[in-house]
Amino acid sequence: MKRRTGQDRNVTKNWKPATLAVRGGTARSEFGETSEALFLTSGYAYDCAGDAAARFAGEQSGMTYSRLQNPTVEMLEQRIALLEGAEACRATASGMAAMTAALLCQLQSGDHLVGGRAAFGSCRWLTDTLLPKFGIETTVVDARDPQQFVDAIRPNTKVFFFETPANPTMDVVDLKAVCGIARDRGITTVVDNAFATPALQRPMEFGADVVAYSATKMMDGQGRVLAGAVCGTEDFINNILLPFHRNTGPTLSAFNAWVVLKGLETLDLRIRRQSENAVKVATFLEGRVPRVNFPGLPSHPQHDLAMTQMEAAGPIFSIELDGGRAQAHGLLDALGLIDISNNIGDSRSLMTHPASTTHSGVAAEQREIMGVREGMLRLNVGLEDPEDLIADLDQALKAVSL
Ligand SMILES: Cc1ncc(COP(=O)(O)O)c(C=O)c1O
Repeated sequence: MKRRTGQDRNVTKNWKPATLAVRGGTARSEFGETSEALFLTSGYAYDCAGDAAARFAGEQSGMTYSRLQNPTVEMLEQRIALLEGAEACRATASGMAAMTAALLCQLQSGDHLVGGRAAFGSCRWLTDTLLPKFGIETTVVDARDPQQFVDAIRPNTKVFFFETPANPTMDVVDLKAVCGIARDRGITTVVDNAFATPALQRPMEFGADVVAYSATKMMDGQGRVLAGAVCGTEDFINNILLPFHRNTGPTLSAFNAWVVLKGLETLDLRIRRQSENAVKVATFLEGRVPRVNFPGLPSHPQHDLAMTQMEAAGPIFSIELDGGRAQAHGLLDALGLIDISNNIGDSRSLMTHPASTTHSGVAAEQREIMGVREGMLRLNVGLEDPEDLIADLDQALKAVSL
């Protein structure tokens, strides 16, 4: 492997994000390929037994096994770290692998975690079910209110875990305030930044310690592969996360890493256009449905906060209907262009009913408390012409008498 001249860390750090998204982390082979090479290999051969021993002892650089290292995956890790402004990054097989590893690698029985109550269903399963099963206490709070984090702190609190904007209520967390509270008390913040991505929001600039991703969403951006990533300091990634990750094995496949590398090249373009489209679609819906939860709209109570920490509001938002599940399902069934799908971050517009899909695993009572009501629908606005999306929504709303 030959690293192209000018690709060393010091030089790449001076590149602007658009350049990093296309060039960051590139490591060319001796063939000089322009597009990153896809290394589909599980193992690596050594020139002699002594080399194998030296690599395992950490005395010789080089790859040993693709659960531990792979050149294509390493390119992606470097590119994400550069975009995030993080010292290091470790890619994972999915977003949930990233969240699980980021938490379990640093928590142990007897510790306490404070989590945001509005969160993706599986993230809530981690805080409500998995962690307590291993003796890790958890408290969920309304993460829109930084004081609730302060009030929940115990002597054994080790981690704050939240997403902003949150799936699907779009609650926004004040990153500077909450990360500041954690810093002052030696608590580690783990921020799920899947909705915004580093193109729109870099939580470390506001004091976050660890930023975790579902790269399945906007980073891939075309609904093709599952992937995840955890960013942090070199100390956190190498000494705390890596032993957990290497030995438990939630490793990203080289093929999926390659697809996400390609996705990152267009992330900035896609997310900004999709954000603009989302504002147009949400503005239309604002006049037609009882409630639109989108921090991109000036009417949203957290619009000003969102715009201080995000460069644009992103492509995802939710709406609420008064007619409960029947009306929400009716609207979905009347759609002609927008797909009924629980994925997000795709260049296609997708819509889902969280209470019966992404959040069906959360107890009904908890769903109600976190604001995922039966009349809620979540929309991922894609790259289609917003006028076509508005026309589709218009006819679907009429079909359910709205
Ligand atoms: C905010 C958030 N975090 C994590 C995940 C999990 O990601 P994955 O499906 O890649 O495991 C999702 C998936 O929808 C999500 O929306």
